Amino acid sequence: MFNASQELLNTAATAPAGQTGAQILEEMDLHYNDAMGRDMADLYERVKSVIPPVEWPFFAPYIKAINQLKREKNAVILAHNYQTPEIFHGIADVAGDSLQLAIEATKAEGDIIVQCGVHFMAETSKLLNPEKTVLIPDMGAGCSLAESITGADVRALREAYPNVPIVTYVNTSADVKAESDVCCTSSNAVKIVEGMGTDRVLCIPDEFLAQNIARETDVEVIAWKGRCEVHELFTPEELQQYRNDDPGLKIIAHPECKPSVLEEADFSGSTSAMIKWVTDNQPDRVLMVTECSMSDNVAVENPNVNFVRPCNLCPHMKQITLPKVLETLVYERQAVEVDASVAVKARQAVERMIALSA
Ligand code: 13P
Ligand code: SF4
Repeated sequence: MFNASQELLNTAATAPAGQTGAQILEEMDLHYNDAMGRDMADLYERVKSVIPPVEWPFFAPYIKAINQLKREKNAVILAHNYQTPEIFHGIADVAGDSLQLAIEATKAEGDIIVQCGVHFMAETSKLLNPEKTVLIPDMGAGCSLAESITGADVRALREAYPNVPIVTYVNTSADVKAESDVCCTSSNAVKIVEGMGTDRVLCIPDEFLAQNIARETDVEVIAWKGRCEVHELFTPEELQQYRNDDPGLKIIAHPECKPSVLEEADFSGSTSAMIKWVTDNQPDRVLMVTECSMSDNVAVENPNVNFVRPCNLCPHMKQITLPKVLETLVYERQAVEVDASVAVKARQAVERMIALSA
């Protein structure tokens, strides 16, 4: 009988480093066949509205092998809402927004965490689980916000604004978190800013998120100049055009968009808050002003809602693919490490956020 995971383990022992997932797959003869199609029919039935039949024979063997292997290796897969549907619905044990993934990381029971998301998310999981192996399928999965600021920048800000608390978006490196007083995500930012108990806070590095928080609080919010390369592309003009063409359309937007974009929206919130809004409101037609894959993921659970795009792709999130997840699990490589002295302070900032947002 075909045993994909045993073959994977055998391959892991002998495969030379640097071998790609595609090569491993070829050697393991993980081909789609009728029996596999029948085995996985229930899953395909769920996702068939967002995964075309022509793509399923490519995804199914990987999904099956990854799910078997993660059980054998006692691994848990965390996936952000922007992951593609075959990852989100096929292999994730936990899916969610940045805050949910950070919280779930504290509860992860496996020996290995595979983070299907970008590097700062894997670093956050490592901070909260220093004793666990945290793997990321592609070390190059970055984030324009995380790259917009360094630890040295934060130290300079602290000197320029003594006694002003520094609230740092989780979309940052561990170095930056370590220099901060507390972290926040898009779902708890206002609460965290107000929780500082001061008249002024620095809210870094996303300038649009900072401006959007400022609209919802009396606290003076001082921003940095970082931007999400995906959300900054949306304009109020394009949303007005969609609304003019379809007055019944509901528009919901992520707070990494410009304030002028949020002004055109019926609702704004974190990725999970957007999903909840669609689930609760069941709009006939909705435009989710955020990363592309999220509409696909939400559409699976909401067959009566029509999703109108535009959407923009996050090239970093899209670095994560099934073959790379398989390869990462097979070799247990691409482990994320955080320097111990940095980790202690960065962990405090994340844990303080979790405590304040409880
Ligand atoms: P959420 O915390 O809302 O999931 O956002 C993370 C992110 O990277 C959005 O671009
Ligand atoms: Fe970073 Fe934007 Fe991609 Fe989110 S969507 S990971 S903020 S670049």
